[in-house]
Amino acid sequence: MQGYDNSSYGDAFADVYDDWYGDISDIDATVTALARLCADAGGLSIVELGCGTGRLALPLALAVHPTTVTGIDSSAAMLQQLDRKRGDTPLQTILGDMVDDIPNSRLGVVFVAFNTFFNLGTAERQQQCMHAVAQRLAPGGSFVIEALVPEDPARTGSMVEVKSLARDRVVLSVARYDGGKQSVEGQFIEFTESGGVRLRPWTIRYASPTELDSMAATAGLRCSQRWETFSGETFNEDSHRHVSVYTPV
Ligand SMILES: C[S@@+](CC[C@H](N)C(=O)[O-])C[C@H]1O[C@@H](n2cnc3c(N)ncnc32)[C@H](O)[C@@H]1O
Repeated sequence: MQGYDNSSYGDAFADVYDDWYGDISDIDATVTALARLCADAGGLSIVELGCGTGRLALPLALAVHPTTVTGIDSSAAMLQQLDRKRGDTPLQTILGDMVDDIPNSRLGVVFVAFNTFFNLGTAERQQQCMHAVAQRLAPGGSFVIEALVPEDPARTGSMVEVKSLARDRVVLSVARYDGGKQSVEGQFIEFTESGGVRLRPWTIRYASPTELDSMAATAGLRCSQRWETFSGETFNEDSHRHVSVYTPV
């Protein structure tokens, strides 16, 4: 999408993110699973890639204290929302990129939730992220990816849906699918009677669990566990999403 960069998503969604997506997944189950993986890695530091408003990183930091938790995000607007909520929570944040700005230290758990890995817009960038994480993971550490399972066959074409409708306001969701490129580009378009039009753009480059496993293998990681969700439901061929745990070979 022309003009779209690393901070476009966060800057466009920061003001509505918690309202729209605050309960998109089970936070308690996510925190419990990540804390367990952290304990398995000897309590070493945790990093969340694309932490956004801290939906997961803030409760996790409280749960695993005194283990250091760091959230990286490329959107200042998202991190401002996080700061508004954080109180005394012992969470470190980095305004930066989830490939280039991962701290150079031995890490116990790195995780990337809710399709955020697919915000890296090319296979090359996703592979670079795998390498960057693998270089920093301690033996026994984990890289956890939570993501959708792409439709098979891949969808191509466009769609328009009504996200919300009120007397003085409508939000439309439009998206364009390119199955060949494994990409989806979308916009939430908000019209208000007072005259405003607000655009919230997003793009993803999706990958199947098999492709992620292959990228991980190239980086020296292997998939040691895969669930449908952080609650531990069994992943199977009908699953629409997955939580994959990659560990150093
Ligand atoms: C879908 S939100 C997820 C936020 C949070 N992980 C959650 O589950 O609620 C994706 C986040 O990734 C951030 N992001 C996108 N590309 C990024 C990049 N290259 N490096 C760091 N953060 C990025 C966005 O700013 C946004 O806050």
